[in-house]
Amino acid sequence: MKKITSALVALGLGVALSASVQATSNDEAVIERIKAVGSVCIEGDDTCGGAPAAAPAGGSRTAEEVYNAACAGCHATGAAGAPKYGTADWADRAGKGMETLLANAINGINAMPPRGMCRDCSDEDLQNAIQHMLDSAK
Ligand code: HEC
Repeated sequence: MKKITSALVALGLGVALSASVQATSNDEAVIERIKAVGSVCIEGDDTCGGAPAAAPAGGSRTAEEVYNAACAGCHATGAAGAPKYGTADWADRAGKGMETLLANAINGINAMPPRGMCRDCSDEDLQNAIQHMLDSAK
């Protein structure tokens, strides 16, 4: 009888020991948490998941590229009263001068949202796009 008891004790000890070997292995969760920075997808950015977007901010894009990407949505159609591309609307606005037009584009005016909602447009990008629209005036 004594033999059986000590065998059971040894067995119990063995189980207890092996349970404590279960080390924490949360490495994957940690990697998941720290990798997020820099891989955020901005709404409306169709380059997500593909090649990295062309360098943002800094006048690396042409006026037309900025206009097409950020301004045409409203200014091509005249949505919400936006001065329409290719029309006399822009001849009317030209009188305000670039300084005022740029300031209003940066800060927003009435239904025109600040920076036309273009988060990666530099001031230079905005000015180029405005000039592009002014040039379209008929
Ligand atoms: C969500 C629609 C929308 C987008 C996008 C948008 N605009 Fe506009 N924009 C407007 C509207 C509406 C007005 C007319 C505001 C007013 O004068 O009442 C306007 C007016 C302007 C004016 C004239 C401001 C003035 O002082 O008369 C400029 C300049 C301008 N937008 C530049 C831009 C540029 C540059 C972009 C792109 C980077 C852009 N907008 C994108 C809606 C938009």
